[in-house]
Amino acid sequence: MIEIELMNAAASMARRAGDLALVGRSTLDRSTDVGTKSTATDMVTRWDSASENLIVSDIEARRPDDGIIGEEGSTKESRSGVSWLVDPIDGTTNFLYGLAGWAVSIAAVDLSGTLAGAVYLPATREMFVAARGHGSWLGGRRLACSPSGELATALVGTGFSYSSERRAKQGERVANLLPNVRDIRRTGAAAPDLCYVADGRLDAYFEENLQPWDLAAGLLIATEAGARASDFAGGPPVPSNVLVSAPDIHDRLLDLIAPSPNRRDPTL
Ligand code: IPD
Ligand code: CA
Ligand code: CA
Repeated sequence: MIEIELMNAAASMARRAGDLALVGRSTLDRSTDVGTKSTATDMVTRWDSASENLIVSDIEARRPDDGIIGEEGSTKESRSGVSWLVDPIDGTTNFLYGLAGWAVSIAAVDLSGTLAGAVYLPATREMFVAARGHGSWLGGRRLACSPSGELATALVGTGFSYSSERRAKQGERVANLLPNVRDIRRTGAAAPDLCYVADGRLDAYFEENLQPWDLAAGLLIATEAGARASDFAGGPPVPSNVLVSAPDIHDRLLDLIAPSPNRRDPTL
């Protein structure tokens, strides 16, 4: 089955690249190995590039006709109908500061969506994987999202963009939500957050202004574990705004995150 084959390939590439970056982290020199991208707080290290280069060579060796879109600039058109979305280090700020919450995220997509994905956290050696229609897995354990039906006891993850203007808006959403849930978590990496929803370590996660490579693998892992996913208007999830949660709290979370007169009333 192609989905399983792609999932195993994604896992193997994510492990190699993640372990390379983990070893690299111990020799990281902040004065020569670190630069910035979209804003002064959007960091990139030489290990983001090294991880992406390794993954790209690996894809080219395994499946030379596949397309590639990598966060650090790799692009290649697909001749096979399959393309790879690569975030070589998701959570670069954590990586830089020596915190554990960073991952390599790799997804294989076709015209109907994500076929397979792997999210590998080198610091905890956790490998989350999913294949479309075949569930999501951590090691040999099949994942299932939390059965939570209670908003007041829901633990909700979120993230903030690198743009200060966007953060102001995101802060308003959090302020609205915080009094109504158990608590908020900000892991610092979108792909692990999505995996934590898949494993019931978070009851929900939402974020806006993500990129396709932040979302694809983790979203498949979460939805294959039974989580419900949508954009903030209740339509299909997109990188620009996504809520992933235990199914029974989804509509009530949408009401708090993005109250809108135009949104469908879930009780109708
Ligand atoms: C970022 C992380 C962060 C999220 C940002 C992403 P990067 O990815 O996933 O948690 O809040 O929106 O851009 O830059 O570390 O790959
Ligand atoms: Ca990312
Ligand atoms: Ca990244």
